[in-house]
Amino acid sequence: MSPEERSELVRSACLSRGNAYAPYSQYAVGAALLSELGTLYRGANVENAAYPNGLCAERVALFSAVAAGERKFRGMAVVTRDGGFPCGACRQALAEFGLGLEILIADESEQIRWVGPLSELLPHVFSADSLRDSAGGSPR
Ligand code: THU
Repeated sequence: MSPEERSELVRSACLSRGNAYAPYSQYAVGAALLSELGTLYRGANVENAAYPNGLCAERVALFSAVAAGERKFRGMAVVTRDGGFPCGACRQALAEFGLGLEILIADESEQIRWVGPLSELLPHVFSADSLRDSAGGSPR
């Protein structure tokens, strides 16, 4: 991504963070995902009184993009107060669509703290390849 695209992605994740519903943890997270077609998908964490029912910002953005028909992505920005990294479940969900995804980790002042490919956040990934020759086969 260009420096301009990176800033726009971080700005967008920061705005989404404002929509986080996190009354239990008070830990607001915003995410923005840029598709290859150039569309931005946004997400924020949404918590629930029945705790496990909540969902992380990254997966909200990813699932919204995939539900809209997108499967190829260029980058994702994640914004928290202090530049926190995505949880393991979100890393795994994102990996389904490509380990080359550029991840931008930023803080609430939109400072980028870390940039790198998803592959660096999830080495030795479990993927469709791991299921090769097993009954389920590969996804279509
Ligand atoms: N959270 C995210 O939205 N993304 C992550 O990658 C880590 C955690 C949310 C889930 C929960 O609403 C809050 O942060 C505290 O765990």
